[in-house]
Amino acid sequence: MRVVVTGGAGFIGSHLTEYLLSLGHEVIVLDDFSTGTARNLRALSANPRLTVVPGSVCDATIVETCLAGADAVYHLAAAVGVFTILDRTLESLRTNLTGTETVLAAASRAGARMLLASTSEIYGKNTAMGLREEDDRIIGSPLKNRWSYAEAKALDETFAHLYAVEKGLRTVIVRLFNTVGPRQTGRYGMVVPRFVDQALAGKPLTVFGTGQQSRCFCHVLDVVPALVALLEDERAHGTVFNLGNPEPVTIEELAHRVLVRTGSPAGIVRVPYEQAYGPGYEDMERRVPDCTKAKQAIGFQPARGLDDILDGVLADRTAAVPR
Ligand SMILES: NC(=O)c1ccc[n+]([C@@H]2O[C@H](COP(=O)([O-])OP(=O)(O)OC[C@H]3O[C@@H](n4cnc5c(N)ncnc54)[C@H](O)[C@@H]3O)[C@@H](O)[C@H]2O)c1
Repeated sequence: MRVVVTGGAGFIGSHLTEYLLSLGHEVIVLDDFSTGTARNLRALSANPRLTVVPGSVCDATIVETCLAGADAVYHLAAAVGVFTILDRTLESLRTNLTGTETVLAAASRAGARMLLASTSEIYGKNTAMGLREEDDRIIGSPLKNRWSYAEAKALDETFAHLYAVEKGLRTVIVRLFNTVGPRQTGRYGMVVPRFVDQALAGKPLTVFGTGQQSRCFCHVLDVVPALVALLEDERAHGTVFNLGNPEPVTIEELAHRVLVRTGSPAGIVRVPYEQAYGPGYEDMERRVPDCTKAKQAIGFQPARGLDDILDGVLADRTAAVPR
């Protein structure tokens, strides 16, 4: 198959590209290298079935060219990370709205099936233990920049849904909960690589807020095969799935686990949210997925726990040969 991965030079996208190539597919990566990097694809660069196209998903001509003759597209390109969204809110909003509609329109013209990478952020402040796909969204003010990522991704879902209903596009929407593992950067606010980098540098781990907020972390290698299995399954088309690991850990506990795993004596410092993200920042106490639907559809069951994740991230950071 000829498969397009937008955002394929990013964290999840590069693992997905590697997996699709291992299945024998031809893969075209479209990426503007804003948060992704060529380094993530370096090990694959000699593969004749991989083509990397530098460019934006907002550029209709490039998107159209990449999707010509494609059987499937995984749309992962997006402005991501709290720091990115807060620092460049307008640009991020445009990427996440215009980019998605451009890719949907091109997929529709090409007759390619399409997976949209959405996010657990769309549930907003809903802290139900075990969020299900049909649960309500509880979102803060549209004037709080923090929520613009959730708003854009929710509209992306609506766009994808309407392309499926009105134009017959075969779409799958996947709401990823915190996905982590090797190659993820901490530069844009992701907590696991940030903690690991701080510990390796001998710096105290900065825990934002009280540290009692919890998150569920899923290994990227548990997520990637599920993305492919869902888009390959016709019964999944036109619908939405949560993908994540239901095991919560508080951010303070995560920091301790990182200190133990790295053997760092650096300790922890607490930083108020206002100091980390500016005044008025809103966060949620927990976000726990219910992935029953994906389990029933494709047997989704994360196999890797937090220690596997931390070991993988550590090995990636301390690799003798740089990627
Ligand atoms: N990692 C997570 O925990 C998580 C959680 C929920 C949703 N997601 C979604 O998964 C997808 C991949 O995220 P990731 O964690 O791999 O982040 P990432 O930043 O590593 O990947 C995003 C990629 O998109 C590229 N990109 C950004 N704007 C672009 C544009 N205009 N045109 C072309 N390429 C562009 C970046 O350069 C990068 O390679 C995103 O859609 C994100 O919203 C990720």
